[in-house]
Amino acid sequence: MIPLHLYPQVQISWMMKKRIAIFGSGGGSNAEAIIAHFTGHKEAEIALIVTNNPGAFILNRADQHGISTFTHTAEDLINGRLSEKLKTETIDFIVLAGYLKKVPDEIIASFPDRIVNIHPALLPKFGGKGMYGMHVHRAVVEAGESVSGITIHNVNENYDEGNIIEQHECPVLASDKAEDLQMRVLKLEHTFYAPCIDKLLKQL
Ligand code: GRF
Repeated sequence: MIPLHLYPQVQISWMMKKRIAIFGSGGGSNAEAIIAHFTGHKEAEIALIVTNNPGAFILNRADQHGISTFTHTAEDLINGRLSEKLKTETIDFIVLAGYLKKVPDEIIASFPDRIVNIHPALLPKFGGKGMYGMHVHRAVVEAGESVSGITIHNVNENYDEGNIIEQHECPVLASDKAEDLQMRVLKLEHTFYAPCIDKLLKQL
C-alpha cells in the first residue's frame, strides 16, 4: 500500500472540515443550538458569524465560543466586502438564522444550494417581506390557524421562496398568544435546524 503522505492533496481534503458561516441579526438562539451541534464535529465547523447589527447578542455568543465574527455595513453588501470575507475565510456553506438583510445576488450565485434559511411558519403561508419574528406568529394567531411550525429552505433571490427542504409542525392552541407560539416554534427550530444542516453538508 502506498503511504498516505505521498498523496498530500488527498490527505488535506480528507482532513479539512467544511466551514460554515452563520448569518444573524439578533439574539442568535438558533446559532447557539447549531454551534452546540457542531462542537467537536469531525466533518464541519462553525467558522464565522456574520451580522449587520453591531449590537446583536449573536456576537456575544460568538465571543463565548471563540468564533470569528464579521459585522458588515449596508455598503459591504454592495461593494463586495462581505463576499470577499467569505472567500478569504474559505466558507463552504451559509446558514441564515434570523438574518434580516437580503443576501446579495452575487453571494447567492457563488453558493448554489449552499445557503439555507429557517422560517418560523409553514411556508408558503406567512412568508415574504415583512414576515419575520413576532410579525409571523402574530399573523398566524390572528388568522386562527390550528397548526404552525418551521420551514427550512434554500435561499434564492426572493424572500422565503427557495426550495423547501424540511417542514415540522406544532399545534396552535386557541389560548395562544403570539409569544406562546413563538416559544413552541423556537423549540422546533432548535431541535431540527442543526441536524438538517448536518445532512445537507454530507450531500455536498
Ligand atoms: C427565528 O425564529 C427564525 O426562525 C427566524 O428568526 C428567528 C431568529 O431567532 N428566521 P434567533 O436569533 O435564532 O434566536
